[in-house]
Amino acid sequence: MGSLSKQEQVECREKAEYANVNWDELGFALTKTDYMYVMNFTEEEQKFFNGTLTRFGNIEMCPSSGILNYGQGLFEGLKAYRKEDEGILLFRPQENALRMKMGADRMCMPSPTVDQFIDAVKKTVLANKRWVPPYGRGSLYVRPLLMGTGRNLGVKPSSDYTFLVYASPVGNYHKVYCCREASLKVKHVLELNNTLFLKGDLNLMVEDNVHRAIPGGTGGIKAVTNYSPVYKPLTEAKAKGFSDLLFLDASTGSNIEEGSACNIFILKGNVISTPATHGTILPGITRKSIMEIASGFGYQVEERAIPIKEVFDAEEVFCTGTAMVVKSVASITYQGKRIQYKLGAETLAQKLHATLTGIQTGLIEDKLGWTMLID
Ligand SMILES: Cc1ncc(COP(=O)(O)O)c(C=O)c1O
Repeated sequence: MGSLSKQEQVECREKAEYANVNWDELGFALTKTDYMYVMNFTEEEQKFFNGTLTRFGNIEMCPSSGILNYGQGLFEGLKAYRKEDEGILLFRPQENALRMKMGADRMCMPSPTVDQFIDAVKKTVLANKRWVPPYGRGSLYVRPLLMGTGRNLGVKPSSDYTFLVYASPVGNYHKVYCCREASLKVKHVLELNNTLFLKGDLNLMVEDNVHRAIPGGTGGIKAVTNYSPVYKPLTEAKAKGFSDLLFLDASTGSNIEEGSACNIFILKGNVISTPATHGTILPGITRKSIMEIASGFGYQVEERAIPIKEVFDAEEVFCTGTAMVVKSVASITYQGKRIQYKLGAETLAQKLHATLTGIQTGLIEDKLGWTMLID
């Protein structure tokens, strides 16, 4: 493209069916795409209006904006998948729109309507179509943000808000560096505190000091302020080789709640249990979908308090979330004791993963109307 102007090169690249990405190398990290969607709510208009697609890039805001000073903000996460016939499917976008509305209400923010939300997501995905990975090789992760962007200095809700949607192609959340069948060669294994962890496996450490949510707090919504307060214990746990923390309830310290960005399930016999959502756990859309799929498989699905002790007796443990979909837990470590769980092709987690991703990519008939074909 040596003789083309910069603008012509950009246009040329955009016309190409697929972006120039090594799809097999994708992990869960930002790859900049072409466009983002921005829509504002102003004090004068008292509504979200004039949403537009703009080039992906940095945004400007007043240093006194509510998001920067007081964390008045929410985010969402959903995926667009390419089908075998190249069509593009969104997975349950209404659920994300409704969760953002619920969160906005708790955070004293106005929110876009469900239709505005879905329209923005669709436009963002279609404008970045060439970044939607080929069938079976990843997905386009869509990240809607809602933030207080008014010029308000005092501690009070912002006067103005911005709804912004951007997207990035993604692969595995916890990138798998080796296959399980590989022998335990040193380079594939982390050996810390005499414990062997295979890279790519989900090894959880129970956090019994720091709590992610409190009753009456914001654990049940995707407030931006829920995440960085756990960075310190999470970073420490990762330095020891763990993949994530498993948080306990703040009231009793004895029941499991969730991971830093995923829900958790345990299997015993024909019963699948997951902690009930009473405001301290995020009502995950993957969690909800998995509960329905598992019921359809004939399992008894329970939402209830799950004492950490019960986790020791589980036959299988798995986590769910948009980013990871469904992933078996290899081990849980609590107060120095490590319990290992069943992994691999025979697990229920694998069966659930195959069914859910089958529906998400259009491979399995979507009898429940969860997917939305947008192209
Ligand atoms: C704290 C937390 N729990 C659970 C989940 C899983 O939710 P979902 O399945 O809707 O992605 C997420 C991710 O969004 C999360 O951030």
